[in-house]
Amino acid sequence: MQKFEKEIQNKDNFKYIFSSPLNKNDAKKIIYRKIEANTIYWQEEKFIENKVIHKNFNEDEISITLINSMQNFKQCCIQNENATINAFNNNGKIAFKKVLRTNKCNLSHNKEKSYFINEGDNVPFLVELGIFNNQNKIITAKYDKFKQINRFIEIIDDNLKKYNKKEINIIDFGCGKSYLTFVLYYYFTNIKNITAFISGYDLKADVVENCNKLAQKYSYTNLKFYNEDVANVKITNPVDMLITLHACDIATDYALNFAINNNIKYIFSVPCCQHEINLSIKKGGDFDCLLDYGLIKERFSALLTDTVRANILECKGYKVDILEFVDFSHTPKNIMIRAEKTTKAKEITKDIYTLKEKYNFNQKLLQLQTI
Ligand SMILES: C[S@@+](CC[C@H](N)C(=O)[O-])C[C@H]1O[C@@H](n2cnc3c(N)ncnc32)[C@H](O)[C@@H]1O
Repeated sequence: MQKFEKEIQNKDNFKYIFSSPLNKNDAKKIIYRKIEANTIYWQEEKFIENKVIHKNFNEDEISITLINSMQNFKQCCIQNENATINAFNNNGKIAFKKVLRTNKCNLSHNKEKSYFINEGDNVPFLVELGIFNNQNKIITAKYDKFKQINRFIEIIDDNLKKYNKKEINIIDFGCGKSYLTFVLYYYFTNIKNITAFISGYDLKADVVENCNKLAQKYSYTNLKFYNEDVANVKITNPVDMLITLHACDIATDYALNFAINNNIKYIFSVPCCQHEINLSIKKGGDFDCLLDYGLIKERFSALLTDTVRANILECKGYKVDILEFVDFSHTPKNIMIRAEKTTKAKEITKDIYTLKEKYNFNQKLLQLQTI
């Protein structure tokens, strides 16, 4: 614990997120944020069952509060402007993992108000979808999903600053309960004043039926859901944007394949559970040591999967960025493939084929697209 005490002396730290409680009856998560108003103080956000409780601490009280919390949680994510430090509590012994990266620091009190949808806003479909309770407060178990949705919309908003058409046609593959799909519809129609035509596709018939009922209830006439495998979807009208949020495994590949084949300009895709390479890859070259340990093999395979996908998109004329979608504490599946169709295709690279030949893995998008 002494190491932790030393770490929290760093005056540059502005946020602590405690997760994985040691005692199941305790708060699920606690966040401490440094706030600069007339004086500096710390705001505690404690997540207990379906409530979020706020309390403030002054600078003198915060150290002991943080130490108490570290004793009650397995993990703490510490942020300052230059690094994210993860502290792991192993029976009172603290180990650290430090990643150098720029964290945005906003010390004003109403920081969360920059969201497109904020806690307290009257958005009735979010109550019916189980994100808000009847008082429009976020249900604790859905807090991470709420963050993901807001971040997704924020990224779309950033990228569509120059979008000047009055209509937009969007497809969401693997939409599931469609939290994001509904919020996206709300964002375009209510906030941007753009007529949005959004179609969600999912394998689960009952979920699709519920989504259609909800869309009808709110007279969202251009929001439609279809019970169809993404591999089989055919369209007649041009589509401007494709989104996927955690569409399972190769469903993401079918979605990207669809976007390429239908010349869709904007792609925002957050993949999930990339099993295919992990299950098929064999040893065969310089990276063999990365295949020796299950967890590392799984992560390496996931990264290789998204690298192959990004490469193929580039070869097909997309400008591609790989972003950290949300902080790791909100979901470990936090890579977003953001792509925009340009006129230039990248010079054809044989790298991914060489890798495939050496390591003998299967990758659906590589199989579907000829480069
Ligand atoms: C993890 S959920 C994500 C749901 C939603 N996008 C979200 O983020 O809340 C993945 C969804 O993808 C759907 N799915 C998986 N494979 C699919 C396929 N081949 N075609 C259509 N939907 C698929 C599943 O039924 C599931 O609802």
